[in-house]
Amino acid sequence: MTGYYETGSSPACRSCICEFNRFTEALFWSRIMQEHALFIKLGLPANEPELREKAQEFIERFKELRRRLNKACRLEGELLRDLIDAVKDIIEFKAELLRLLIQCKAEPGSNYPLLLDHIRREAMHFLELLRKPEPKEPLFILLKEQVFWLRIMKEHIEFIIHLLDPSERELLNQAEGLRRTFSRLLETARDLESMAQTRPRTFNTVLRFTENVITAAMELRNFKAAAFELAELCELLSIVSTPLLLDHVRREADKFIDEMEAILPALKKCNVGKDKCKQ
Ligand SMILES: [Fe+2]
Ligand SMILES: [Fe+2]
Repeated sequence: MTGYYETGSSPACRSCICEFNRFTEALFWSRIMQEHALFIKLGLPANEPELREKAQEFIERFKELRRRLNKACRLEGELLRDLIDAVKDIIEFKAELLRLLIQCKAEPGSNYPLLLDHIRREAMHFLELLRKPEPKEPLFILLKEQVFWLRIMKEHIEFIIHLLDPSERELLNQAEGLRRTFSRLLETARDLESMAQTRPRTFNTVLRFTENVITAAMELRNFKAAAFELAELCELLSIVSTPLLLDHVRREADKFIDEMEAILPALKKCNVGKDKCKQ
């Protein structure tokens, strides 16, 4: 492995072991974190100036970290520590907002509780990758990522359904079909992940399932890209606070597809038994 300080494909697989590249992940996720802070701010009601101010501080904090990341050639030392601290703090901010909503101690504005939980989970995923991007066998990393991302993808569709205007019947119908597909895929991924705990030497069904997952994720990715284009052209009726949200979820779908496409060839190669891939 080339090490996870310099940028490179993430995850990268070699000799039946896959490993995330911390720097590449940081470049992707720090932009996501900055945008989460913006979406929270836009969703907060006008009578919550302090929370809006706090959200704005996170926008600026991640903007600055991204500027430092773009100038750096390695992710280590102070930069890594500052990034980890910022991610920990934004996790706590999202959790604090969610707690307030759950206990009816703040007005929700347009931040759904599930959206706050969703972006909190994304931040926790990022923190885990920053702290310990552990090398893993392709089967385990693939199923772990599938369970994480399929839940995220299913929720994206649920948010889009609740943000589209009720008159957008064609798009809502399409989204409803995608929601059913992704609910099924998520359930299956959880089953397969559980079965993989028995550590089978080969698991061909996972290969077939992953091909289906990639096809479905491409369809969802195109749906999000089309919705973003429509919103940009002002041809979409919705309460989406900014078209950037649709681009954001499209980028997350692309990240999911990229990860599956990086791990699948390694799994195919290693699925024949452990001895063969050590050549
Ligand atoms: Fe996100
Ligand atoms: Fe997301």
